[in-house]
Amino acid sequence: MLPSELLRFKQEGRSITVLTAWDSLSSAMVEAAGADVVLVGDSLGMVILGHATTLPVTLEQMLHHTQAVERGFEKPINHQPLVICDLPFLSYQCGEDKAVAAAGFLLKNSCAAAVKIEGAEPEILAVIERLIRMGIPVMGHLGLTPQSVHKLGYRRQAEDQITQERIISQALQLEQSGCFSLVLEHVPGKLASHLRTKLRIPVIGIGAGNDCDGQVRVTADLLGLSSKQPPFSKPLIKGRQLCVAALQSWIKQQHPQATNPTNGESEQELGY
Ligand code: KIV
Repeated sequence: MLPSELLRFKQEGRSITVLTAWDSLSSAMVEAAGADVVLVGDSLGMVILGHATTLPVTLEQMLHHTQAVERGFEKPINHQPLVICDLPFLSYQCGEDKAVAAAGFLLKNSCAAAVKIEGAEPEILAVIERLIRMGIPVMGHLGLTPQSVHKLGYRRQAEDQITQERIISQALQLEQSGCFSLVLEHVPGKLASHLRTKLRIPVIGIGAGNDCDGQVRVTADLLGLSSKQPPFSKPLIKGRQLCVAALQSWIKQQHPQATNPTNGESEQELGY
């Protein structure tokens, strides 16, 4: 699927589903579940690499994980989800040439067909325009942009009128620059709903209410695997608890006499 086809989904009123994947196991599940798009998000730095923020993630790591995601797909190529890869921190903030080289590196060496970039400052808009002119489709990302954690924190964004107006104007600029879609993270639902009607490109929400053209979720959050669950992403199952219980029962079978085979990680201590 071409990234631009998401525009058709919006025109047809068909909600777009985006799930993250980080390796072949997760991509196989997300593909089998029928997601339209797989996002290899730099959230993988926190979710599976154990970093406190997404900032340490490197371009080489993004490629490594995107290639693993590609190997997990089982459907014929024409039926596989569209793959979008995050450009990590400092791979696109240091000038247009560096950004083209970084995005090109991902597209050349993996099945990613587009990149996602956070923000809409004038320098970022220039980078986006250049990437698009070079044939690299770009998804925008506004609201809570985790690569700016030291400026914005992990708080809900656009709580006041001034920041809401700034996000509206930035979203319009991203559309004008040629982005094929926009992720809006952790902003009031009213703002997302307003932008959905104002923009021609699809607005994909996460913690942005239900009135979006599509939704994106971090798969580990939906499965309840993450130890730190964001407040706007409710788990569908208690995956971590289920996995620990299954592993505990296997360990108990191996050592029937043992009383505390998991070094004390009981269900209570997992916080459920
Ligand atoms: O990195 C990521 O997983 C993301 C989503 C939360 C949109 O950017």
